[in-house]
Amino acid sequence: MGLLQEKLSKFRLPQYFMERGVYPYFREIDSAQDTEVTMDGKRILMFGSNSYMGLTYHERIINAAIEATRKYGTGCAGSRFLNGTLDLHVQLEKELAEFVGKEEALVYSTGFTVNEGVVSCLTDRNDYILCDDRDHASIVDGRRLSFSTQLKYKHNDMAALEKELQKCKPDAVKLIVVDGVFSMEGDLANLPEIVRLKEKYNASIMVDEAHGLGVFGRDGRGVCDHFGLTDQVDVIMGTFSKSLASIGGFVASDKDTINWLRHNSRSYIFSASNTPAATAAAREALHIIQEDKQRRQNLWDITNYALEKFRAAGFEIGETESPIIPLYVHDADKTFEVTKLAFDEGIFINPVIPPACAPQDTLVRVALMATHTKEQIDYAVEHLTKAFKKLDIIK
Ligand SMILES: Cc1ncc(COP(=O)(O)O)c(C=O)c1O
Repeated sequence: MGLLQEKLSKFRLPQYFMERGVYPYFREIDSAQDTEVTMDGKRILMFGSNSYMGLTYHERIINAAIEATRKYGTGCAGSRFLNGTLDLHVQLEKELAEFVGKEEALVYSTGFTVNEGVVSCLTDRNDYILCDDRDHASIVDGRRLSFSTQLKYKHNDMAALEKELQKCKPDAVKLIVVDGVFSMEGDLANLPEIVRLKEKYNASIMVDEAHGLGVFGRDGRGVCDHFGLTDQVDVIMGTFSKSLASIGGFVASDKDTINWLRHNSRSYIFSASNTPAATAAAREALHIIQEDKQRRQNLWDITNYALEKFRAAGFEIGETESPIIPLYVHDADKTFEVTKLAFDEGIFINPVIPPACAPQDTLVRVALMATHTKEQIDYAVEHLTKAFKKLDIIK
């Protein structure tokens, strides 16, 4: 056995959970994706999807993807920089920029590569990147690739952010990067206070709208719009993999920032462009979320209903203000066990353990869609309550 294999063969954490029958990953869905899916022929209630608008099996979006495939083919076989730009990409960029309230936008192949390619390339050796310690992994990877000094502050702790800003040289660029909605805990960045600090310390702000788009703000324009602070935020990114029912991502900003990214962002330049189908699907989803106002109303009605039910049943749900409802477990083994108990009752939820959260903050994450019904929520609350009580997580 080579040294590499010898080293990797020691990684046995997945096997530990497999042997105990609670390994929760890579389950196969063999049906259309909505609030109910089938796995191995068994009906399962889906509470793990990020499809907040419930659009992943929408007729208009499916047709848009099929028509784009017929017109342009299945792939672009090249980077946006060279042969991979379609008029479809450019149309979508214009619509996204207008939607989030910025001058221009760029479409990338995934949301992950947006953060990786944007956070790493906006600032320089003499500059600073400041991140919330619960920012998404893609932001973490982006900052790790950057040559700037990297500073982290405790989650949403504005005094801690100010302390870090005080450490920075006053005339250096200081970029604060935050999730608008934190993906595991469902709480919002304290944008009003971050904007106040930005102005006090002459910093810049980038907001990740992955979980805000479609959900918050006028017509789902996101958290920046929700707070009325779009003009004060310098850079906005979003993904197509959640409310926009596709795959891909974008960054939106002023013309000069986009000009810089268009010619310097490595994951944009050195990676093939988004497929015609994915691009057309995201564009059609963007049209639907602006037209179908009832859909967002349904999402908020079901979210408020579920928040009330989970709270009343005695779950610890933290500071969430969104369709992401964390049910805290505070124990990795029990987090997997409760996920398995739920699955046995036909409920799919996502276990969250480090590095997606702090070791003491393990949880299961319930995510809601506009298409969930009150009956489905009632079923989930009843059976999750039983499972949490059985494992002594709640009384
Ligand atoms: C906050 C946040 N940013 C970025 C991403 C990456 O987006 P994508 O899955 O579209 O690559 C995710 C997805 O998990 C996310 O939750």
